[in-house]
Amino acid sequence: MPKPKIRIFPDLEQLSWAAATRVEDLARLKAMEKKIFSVALSGGATPKRLYEILGSPIFAGRIRWQYVHLFQVDERCVPPDHPESNYRMIRRALLGSGSLPEGNFRRMAAEQRDLQQASRQYAEELARVLQPKESEWPRFDLVFLGMGPDGHTASLFPGTEALEEQVSWVVPNYVEKLKMHRLTLTFPVLNAAANAIFLVSGADKAELLRQVLEGPPGQFPAQKIQPANGRLSWFLDEAAAQLLSAETRG
Ligand code: 6PG
Repeated sequence: MPKPKIRIFPDLEQLSWAAATRVEDLARLKAMEKKIFSVALSGGATPKRLYEILGSPIFAGRIRWQYVHLFQVDERCVPPDHPESNYRMIRRALLGSGSLPEGNFRRMAAEQRDLQQASRQYAEELARVLQPKESEWPRFDLVFLGMGPDGHTASLFPGTEALEEQVSWVVPNYVEKLKMHRLTLTFPVLNAAANAIFLVSGADKAELLRQVLEGPPGQFPAQKIQPANGRLSWFLDEAAAQLLSAETRG
């Protein structure tokens, strides 16, 4: 397995600008080929600044948004205007700018009562836009991921059923410790991406990050992100990276 690319920044602000520039570079390559550029966005707190930057007037002109199609990596099973909703956060941070054409954002309808149906509907959207060949996984150009304090990523939490999913692209996942369901893309879909970028910030993640990047494999869900035919990168701020060895820092 190729070594992941580790990039360390002084703080979350500079990490977020670097991630936005990475989006710009990858989007330009696809626009030059007049092809869609598909991105899956995570929720949580860390990517919010990145989304604000992408939604800012500066990036209105730096990205050909008509080629960009945005999806969600996961969603909490709450209404779209609920404070816990990832969609709400993304809408307020990124979509408000109006740069992205109306129909180019696919929301996970995780507030639906029938979560199996909501998962199937979202998988149909993936199929329609990403057009994978027969028996292939849908392939995103770019997936942004975070890492929770227990080593979860997307809504793939330790000890949950969805960790073992090897057939479905999108599943409901019950998380006992949160006493709630989440909708999430599954590992095979995340690992089919051309680019997977973890955004990790803050001293509270330093010890876990050391274990995830330098400890034995298979301990944490975040370690199962190993793109089969893609590039894995970790964008870290100095606070999160403080316990990493010189070798890991590269
Ligand atoms: C979510 C996310 C989740 C997140 C991690 C890290 O819905 O919560 O998709 O996987 O990326 O929990 O969250 P923070 O960025 O808030 O630390």
